[in-house]
Amino acid sequence: MVKLHLFSLLCLAISSVFVTATPTPEADIEKRQTATGSAYGYVYFQGEGLSNGEQIYFAVSKSNSPVSWNVVNGGRPVLTSTLGTKGLRDPFIIRDPSGSKFYVIATDLRMFGGNQTWDQASRHGSLSLAIWESPDLKSWSAQRLVQVSPATAGMSWAPEATWDPSTQKFIVYWASNLFSASDTGHTGSTYSRIMYATTTDFKTFSTAQPWIDKGTAIIDTTVAFDSASGYYHRFSKINGLILQERSTALFGTWQTVANGVGQAQYGSVEGPLIFLSNVYSGVWHLWLDGINPQGYHPLETGNITSGVWTASTGYVLPPNPRHGTVFSISATEAANLAAVSV
Ligand SMILES: *[C@@H]1O[C@H](CO)[C@@H](O)[C@H](O)[C@H]1NC(C)=O
Ligand SMILES: *[C@@H]1O[C@H](CO)[C@@H](O)[C@H](O)[C@H]1NC(C)=O
Repeated sequence: MVKLHLFSLLCLAISSVFVTATPTPEADIEKRQTATGSAYGYVYFQGEGLSNGEQIYFAVSKSNSPVSWNVVNGGRPVLTSTLGTKGLRDPFIIRDPSGSKFYVIATDLRMFGGNQTWDQASRHGSLSLAIWESPDLKSWSAQRLVQVSPATAGMSWAPEATWDPSTQKFIVYWASNLFSASDTGHTGSTYSRIMYATTTDFKTFSTAQPWIDKGTAIIDTTVAFDSASGYYHRFSKINGLILQERSTALFGTWQTVANGVGQAQYGSVEGPLIFLSNVYSGVWHLWLDGINPQGYHPLETGNITSGVWTASTGYVLPPNPRHGTVFSISATEAANLAAVSV
């Protein structure tokens, strides 16, 4: 943490020495802090070990640093499913490009209680996404379920979305096992692909198509755009390893940056989440959800292209955070989120 932050401050300092037009590090940090990134929100679920663990929880960073957090709503779920399986996992949040609202999307799945095996859940699971919207992180719409996967899919897991400026649409993507149309009982051998559909309103979606098919199980894809280099970076779990790839276009050619990210430090991990520092230019945070023991491990880098991720230190996360999203918020949004009471 300290090392990278000093490094990026040093880079800012050096660039301000050689390029007179560059603002001082203080001015640069000030600008970004007062623009949109005054704090971070964190949306997550707590796992199938608790009866209400598969609902949606929020936390707000204590300062403009993701190192420590206050839970929202007294640590109780903010969004609780009343539809479908009545369970929620893998929440993802995205801001509408107009800035007028947020969308939350999540997996419609409840594993608590051992009612089904993971294999059953991945063959006969919900084909829908659970969806909410909010103008301000304080008031939330009613929940809706929208079927995005075809009947030949076994489930719709770990949905995420990326705004595509080239088409002015969101690309929404999730993992589905696929079966042949004649295998209506979904008994055949299969593996998960990352499916995608486009939308502008998270109400109607285009027909789902495979986006990533590696010929073997893939899940938990997340995408970040690095405006400094003009590359999208995509992180996915493939056969238990986190693969980092990059491409200049969402549907372009993806090249491997690194494979097995975090494995040396943490063994098996999943549910990667990635976000840009509000404060330190070019610093990316990558958090990986450990499998045994469960829970997020924070890593960071000052050079996303390097694929080299260093363990962050000194972090105190909210209780039991599992697969979710950390996102940059304004001071007003932080105050709104902190005040949620349901
Ligand atoms: C158990 O699973 C069945 C079939 O998938 C479902 O109808 C039922 O509601 C589940 N029960 C609980 C407690 O989740
Ligand atoms: C970032 O990493 C890439 C790949 O290792 C390297 O080519 C590039 O020079 C690095 N950039 C900086 C600023 O160190």
